[in-house]
Amino acid sequence: MISIPKSEYARRRKALMAQMEPNSIAILPAAPVYIRNRDVEHIFRQDSDFQYLSGFPEPEAVIALIPGREHGEYVLFCRERDPERELWDGLRAGQEGAMSRFGADDAFPIGDIDDILPGLIEGRERVYYSMGTNQEFDRHLMDWINVIRSKARQGAQPPNEFVALNHLLHDMRLYKSANEVKVMREAAEISSRAHVQAMRVSRPGLFEFHLEAELDYEFRKGGAKMPAYGSIVAAGKNACILHYHENDAVLKDGDLVLIDAGCEIDCYASDITRTFPANGKFSPEQKAIYELVLASQEAAFLEIAPGKHWNQAHEATVQVITAGLVELGLLEGDVEQLIASEAYKAFYMHRAGHWLGMDVHDVGDYKVGGEWRVLEVGMAMTVEPGIYIAPDNQNVAKKWRGIGVRIEDDVVVTKKGCEILTTGVPKTVAEIEALMAGAAQVA
Ligand code: GLY
Ligand code: MN
Ligand code: MN
Repeated sequence: MISIPKSEYARRRKALMAQMEPNSIAILPAAPVYIRNRDVEHIFRQDSDFQYLSGFPEPEAVIALIPGREHGEYVLFCRERDPERELWDGLRAGQEGAMSRFGADDAFPIGDIDDILPGLIEGRERVYYSMGTNQEFDRHLMDWINVIRSKARQGAQPPNEFVALNHLLHDMRLYKSANEVKVMREAAEISSRAHVQAMRVSRPGLFEFHLEAELDYEFRKGGAKMPAYGSIVAAGKNACILHYHENDAVLKDGDLVLIDAGCEIDCYASDITRTFPANGKFSPEQKAIYELVLASQEAAFLEIAPGKHWNQAHEATVQVITAGLVELGLLEGDVEQLIASEAYKAFYMHRAGHWLGMDVHDVGDYKVGGEWRVLEVGMAMTVEPGIYIAPDNQNVAKKWRGIGVRIEDDVVVTKKGCEILTTGVPKTVAEIEALMAGAAQVA
């Protein structure tokens, strides 16, 4: 199973500490466990920032990074070994495992944090911390600071400054290393297989959840623990609901099916959308819209390269889609004016993509100093133009209504342009129809 090597976590911690001001401490809590109902918990997913710096998969843990600390710079608070609890809930690394397996220099039981962490903070000028994402932990941190303040008369020195840790960390996360790209490629390949399988089995009469089950099966068979986000399987006009999630309607003859789904590997997301005919054959209107979306996506890929800015790919999709809608008679007027007045937004109301990484909508600024960010090698993003013709749009001929098409791929910026990670799923009308026809013959 491909995963991020231990050495990379150490490199990241070192890189972060190198950016911290002298005499400072960084503090990060693990993700909380969320209760689903009574004794049942939601599946645990580590906090992405915490995972990025540690690879430590357990809840109830806190990282303290203390550059220059004599007894070790990387301190991990985590659960103690406990045979009784481990019998019920599974194994824990414990303090020993935190050091031997996860590279901590020093480890303490999480139950002792109130006694130990104030002592580690005391005397440090600055605390690097992401305020406001975990309110319960925000309060704990303030309590620890107040413990130090209450001892000021005995000579204790509380920190003077809080620094936004997410700003540093999220900029680091924006640039994917070779190891990260490898993991993302793996996630993309598993997800591609899942989309191919969904196309293969599709036929009118099945329900959307039948296709979702095929996706889940392929994700798990590939070793993914879970989807990176709730899978969208939207037949017919459901495709015009951008974040449709019911997935319980029947696939009707003549419907298009839009599937937006991707798995997560070692906390790295993939995010793929394909749109195909439930019965294996595009109608002329479906084909026209589909090929327009595809042409806009191809135009966008050409705008992804070092030196180009973030918005260029989006602008390319707007240009191609608006011109195409005019050609098809869905919009009327001058293309440049329709772009300026944002008339295309009646059909294409979202952006062409987002950063992709540990979070499906990944971290990182899109603008720097008020200007669109210039792309650099290692940045990863989706390219996902779409056209959605509302079922009740009275301004267009009836034959167009209810068609929703999105095509989404994952790319990484390379020296010369970009690498598309999700080439494993057919995309042209001919490829999709051939795949589905072949599958129908086998069945
Ligand atoms: N799956 C969510 C998105 O495409 O942004
Ligand atoms: Mn998506
Ligand atoms: Mn996306």
